[in-house]
Formats: sequence, structure tokens, C-alpha cells
Amino acid sequence: MPRTVAVVVGSIRKDSINRKLAQALADLAPKYLQFDFIDISKLQLYNQDLDANPTAEWVSFRAQVKKADAVLFVTPEYNRSVPGVLKNAIDVGSRPYGQSVWDKKPTAVVSASPGAAGAFGANHHLRQSLMVLNMPAMQQPEAYIHVGDGFFTADGKIANDGTRAYAQKIIDSFAAWVEVNLHTHH
Ligand SMILES: Cc1cc2nc3c(=O)[nH]c(=O)nc-3n(C[C@H](O)[C@H](O)[C@H](O)COP(=O)(O)O)c2cc1C
Repeated sequence: MPRTVAVVVGSIRKDSINRKLAQALADLAPKYLQFDFIDISKLQLYNQDLDANPTAEWVSFRAQVKKADAVLFVTPEYNRSVPGVLKNAIDVGSRPYGQSVWDKKPTAVVSASPGAAGAFGANHHLRQSLMVLNMPAMQQPEAYIHVGDGFFTADGKIANDGTRAYAQKIIDSFAAWVEVNLHTHH
């Protein structure tokens, strides 16, 4: 059965390595998973005053996430935490109170950095929010990806065989995680 995965990338720059990694993961995924890359760059900063009168960008973003079966986060690390643009998207999706579009959606967090720690800090700060958002988050395999020079081929594939096999394991595990958690009531 087709499943829709909302892909939320924590970087909005054109040449983002995280966006490239998200695309590489989508390309490796089982074909019944359909990936919907969500643009978080146009979202106004969350402001509780706007809850009664949300912007068009907020409304369409919330609808796009809501219709997905699952969410894949792929994020860089800014100052050992989640980039503000991603935190903002999470906050926008979580309100108005009681109407969070994230609720119960199975998820996985992949993080990537040119730094050796693979954005571990951002990955785990994001997981702190996933608890209150009530999103079952895949534990294994952990995905802190160090993206050095030559990580991607010219056509966007993961160059190294071992790393590509690991990426395959991540996305296959996520596919299984989605199926299990879609059938579980929390
Ligand atoms: C404001 C800022 C803070 C950053 N802080 C970190 C950090 O804490 N840890 C890290 O590994 N890389 C850090 N970086 C480097 C990013 O990992 C690097 O710019 C990366 O390419 C961003 O991901 P992207 O290519 O998907 O945009 C930082 C970059 C910026 C612009």
C-alpha cells in the first residue's frame, strides 16, 4: 500500500548536504514510499497571536504534513542544536493546541555534517521535541552522518559502497518502523 512520507529538511540553502542526503535516502527507499519534500523556508516565525488567524503559509504547511503517513527529518546542526528554521517549522505544526499535525506520526531523524560527529547534538535535541509531539521515533540504526568531500557522486548518489549500504539499512528500517507504528495506537 502506498505510504506518504513528509520530508522535513532542516536546511533551506540551495546546496544543502542534508537535502542531498534526504534525496539519496528517498532514491534508495522501497517504491511504495512516496516522498513529499516540504518547503519550510516561507513559514513566518511562530507567534501565538496568529493562532486565531493563521497565515496562508502556515495553513498549507500544516495540511501538507497532516496528510502524510510519516515524517522523515534530515537536519544539520547549528551550534550543537537544531537550526532555528527547523524548530520554527516544528512549532508551527504543533499549534493550535490540541491540533498538532505531528501527533502519532512515525518518524526517523537523520543528521548530517561535514563535522566528524555527524550533527549528533542536533539529532538528539530534535528527539527531545519528538517526545512531547508524541511521534514514535526510530531508535536504530542511529544516523549521524559525516559528509566529507566526495561523499556524493556527481549525480547525487552516495559514493562509498559501505556508506550506501548503511543508508539502505536506515531507509529500510524506517519503512518497517512506519508500518509497525501506523498500526499501533498511542
Ligand atoms: C550558524 C551555523 C552553526 C553551525 N554549527 C555547527 C555545529 O554545531 N556542528 C556542526 O557539525 N556543524 C555546524 N555548522 C556547519 C554545518 O554543519 C554546515 O554548514 C553544513 O553544511 C550545514 O548543512 P547543510 O549543508 O545541509 O546546509 C554550522 C553552520 C552554521 C551556518
